[in-house]
Amino acid sequence: MIEESLQQIASKAQAAISAAATSDALEAVRVEYLGRNGSLAGLSKEMKNLKPEEKASVGKLLNQVKNSLEQDFDVRKAAFDKAALDARLATEWVDLTLPASGTRPGSIHPCTQVQQEIEDLFVSLGFTVLDGPEVETENNNFDALNIPTDHPARDMQDTFWLTGGHLLRTHTSPVQVRGMKKLGPPLRMIAPGRVFRNEEVDASHEHTFYQLEGMMIDRNVSIANLIYFMKTLLAGIFKREVTVRLRPGYFPFVEPGFELDIQCLICGGPGCPVCKHSGWVELLPCGLVHPNVLRNAGIDPEEYGGFAFGLGLTRLVMMRYAIDDIRWLQSGDLRFLKQF
Ligand code: PHE
Repeated sequence: MIEESLQQIASKAQAAISAAATSDALEAVRVEYLGRNGSLAGLSKEMKNLKPEEKASVGKLLNQVKNSLEQDFDVRKAAFDKAALDARLATEWVDLTLPASGTRPGSIHPCTQVQQEIEDLFVSLGFTVLDGPEVETENNNFDALNIPTDHPARDMQDTFWLTGGHLLRTHTSPVQVRGMKKLGPPLRMIAPGRVFRNEEVDASHEHTFYQLEGMMIDRNVSIANLIYFMKTLLAGIFKREVTVRLRPGYFPFVEPGFELDIQCLICGGPGCPVCKHSGWVELLPCGLVHPNVLRNAGIDPEEYGGFAFGLGLTRLVMMRYAIDDIRWLQSGDLRFLKQF
C-alpha cells in the first residue's frame, strides 16, 4: 500500500519538477513534495503504523525516492540559475579596455581669478598687496575711519557684532588703517578680502562677499590721480569700453567722496535683478582720504594726501561673467564652478 503511494508521489513529483517553468515554481514544487510538511514527510509519518519487518524496506525505498527527487530538483535548479546568470551577463557588462573616466582637476574660483588679475595690475603700478584679519576691532572698522560711535554711517553697514569690541569686518577699509600704520607715507597698497554684512540674502546681496580696497598716499595727490587710476583699473578689468558715471557719494573716511557706477553689463542698460532694474551697478566707491583718517594713523594731513577706493570684487565678477545671481558664487555647485 504505502509503496504504491510512494511510487505515485515520486512520479507526480518528477513530472512537476520537469514541468516547473520558473525558479519560483520549482521552489513551490520542492516545498510541496520535499518540504517539512510535504508529501514525503507525510508518508514517513505513516511508517510508525507498519510492521517492523516492513519498516526497513519501506524506509529504504523512501530514502531512495527522496534522494533521487532531491537530485532532480538540484539539476533543474542549476539550469534555472545558469539561465538567469546568462541573461544578466548579456545585458550587464563593462568594457575593461575603455579608458578610465578620470578625475577632473579643480579650477580657480572666478573671484580668485579676477582678484589675481587686479593684483597683478596694481603690482605693476607700484602697489603692495596687503592682507588683514576678517575679525576686526571696532576701532579699525569704524572709529579710525572717522565713523565714531553713534555716527549714523554705522547704520549703513549692518554689522555682525562679536564680543569684546570685535566684529566681522564690514568692509576692507580697516586694512587702510593697518596699511598706513605699517608702511607709513608715501604708500600705495591694495587689500583684497572677504567682508561680512548682516543682510537679507537675495540675487544681489550676500552676507559674505569680496571687496578690494586700494589706497595711495603721497604729496600732491589729487582727484586727477584718482580718476587716472580708476580708469586704468577698469580698462584692465573689462578689456573693453564700459560706460561709467561718477556721482557724489558719502563715506565718512573720504572727502570728497564719489560713487563710480558702470552701466550694467548683464542687461546693457534696460534693467535686470542684478542692477535692481536701474541699468547701473555701483562698483567703485572712492574719494580723497579724509584728514581725520590720516591723522588717526599718525600721518600729517598738511603734508600728505591720498585717494582710496573700495572695489566690489564680487559685483565685478558678476558683471564680467554675466552671473545673474550672487548666490551661485558661494554655492559650491560644480555645475557652476566647472564653467571657469
Ligand atoms: N568701505 C566702503 C564700503 O564698503 C567703500 C569705500 C572704500 C568708499 C574706500 C570709499 C573709499 O562701503
